[in-house]
Amino acid sequence: MSSTKPTMEDIVSLSKRRGFVFQSSEIYGGLSGFYDYGPLGIELSNNLKQLWWDAMVHAKDNVFGVDGAIIQNPMLWQASGHVAGFADPMVEDTVTHKRYRADQLAGVDSTDLTELAKLLEHKKSPDGNPLGKPRSFNMMMQTWVGPIEDDAAKVYLRPETAGSIFTNYLNVKDTMRAKLPFGIAQVGKAFRNEISPRDFIFRVRELEQMEMQYFINPKDQEKVYEEWRQFAWNFLISTLGIKESNLSWHEHGDTERAHYAKAAHDIYFNFPQGPKELWGTHNRSDFDLTNHAKASGKDLTYTDDKSGEQFTPYVIESSVGLGRMLLAVMTDAFDRDEVGGEQRIVMRFNPKLAPVKAAVSPLLKNKPELVDLARKVYAQLKSEFGSVLWDDNGNIGKRYRRQDEIGTPYCITIDFESLDNNTVTLRDRDTAKQTRLSIDELSQNLREGLRGN
Ligand code: GAP
Repeated sequence: MSSTKPTMEDIVSLSKRRGFVFQSSEIYGGLSGFYDYGPLGIELSNNLKQLWWDAMVHAKDNVFGVDGAIIQNPMLWQASGHVAGFADPMVEDTVTHKRYRADQLAGVDSTDLTELAKLLEHKKSPDGNPLGKPRSFNMMMQTWVGPIEDDAAKVYLRPETAGSIFTNYLNVKDTMRAKLPFGIAQVGKAFRNEISPRDFIFRVRELEQMEMQYFINPKDQEKVYEEWRQFAWNFLISTLGIKESNLSWHEHGDTERAHYAKAAHDIYFNFPQGPKELWGTHNRSDFDLTNHAKASGKDLTYTDDKSGEQFTPYVIESSVGLGRMLLAVMTDAFDRDEVGGEQRIVMRFNPKLAPVKAAVSPLLKNKPELVDLARKVYAQLKSEFGSVLWDDNGNIGKRYRRQDEIGTPYCITIDFESLDNNTVTLRDRDTAKQTRLSIDELSQNLREGLRGN
């Protein structure tokens, strides 16, 4: 099967045209770095979340889920080092005062301000003006709780979901009677005041993360780190069906790692704008639990039942952005080919991911006997597969093109022969081939095809 690498414009325009992703508050001109998911985007995003949760939580007997609040006691973010250190290097155009990510203008993965100043010394801004000195810009978004907007009431919107996992370490360990090693997983929103949100939903200011923190004995750190790197790689290929050729590894250098990380490996995906970070595995050592223990006064050490050894657990973290994963599967699925002499765009989603599982059409919408039978088939499939569409708009060729563009694996058409022998045609998205089968066999056929293995 062929595959065409789309441009970002291909993905943005298909997303808008077909209802995957819209600019947020679009009728007011939008807001940079914020997006809304449309009817198909939310189905795709829910499918991704569910597959991740199944693999991360349900398939394991020692990973537990939580859903923490977005706003926490601000002491959490002081102890975690985010208030002081969650910053990106920023540089300003001295004429327009537009602000840019200094590392991006310099074309390096670095947060070292001296190195960036040197690299940018003779560079101009994208508008051709001189640049100021690079400096650090904190990305924490803040607001106030209660009626008085003073420093005592200042709180932060979480910049990563991990925070409430560390603060719930004891709660989960005790309530689930968990022994090391065990993990805590969470899916939820996080907020970052990105200096230059860009590349559609790749870098946004309101994002959704899928994270898991795995608490271990420090002596196991290398082995467990490798296991979680492998987990991420396998999930993308075997569960989501992403092409291996679109993936690569990137190890963080010394000036690139987050303030809490001792080691970090990203899986890069070949996005329309080039290979970029999709999924990070980090060794956070005992950085978080040690700092939270100090700041809260709680004992967060662990005592091994058998050996009696007492230590602060290390944490290996697996962290991926849901929006980036959605952009990756859309890029990976995008294809152009020719069917019956006509060009089409086809989203070759793994059927498990497809936002719409099947579309049902009467061949002609003005023949009540065709419409009646088609409505029965539609009701039957909808009750079993949920995300099934009724489509009687335009001629049958147009309907197929429309379903191809949203990646619907199967189209079912009720024609005159259906009235004679209770059969329908089942069209396969990828091959565009049609087969005739009895209505009684339809559910079973779809069930097998939609497993997508
Ligand atoms: N808890 C670790 C952590 O947050 P990170 O590398 O800053 O690490 C993890 O973020 C993942 O979250 C990234 O690999 C990426 O998929 C996603 N992500 C981070 N910043 C993002 C942004 N501004 N927009 C969209 N996704 C983002």
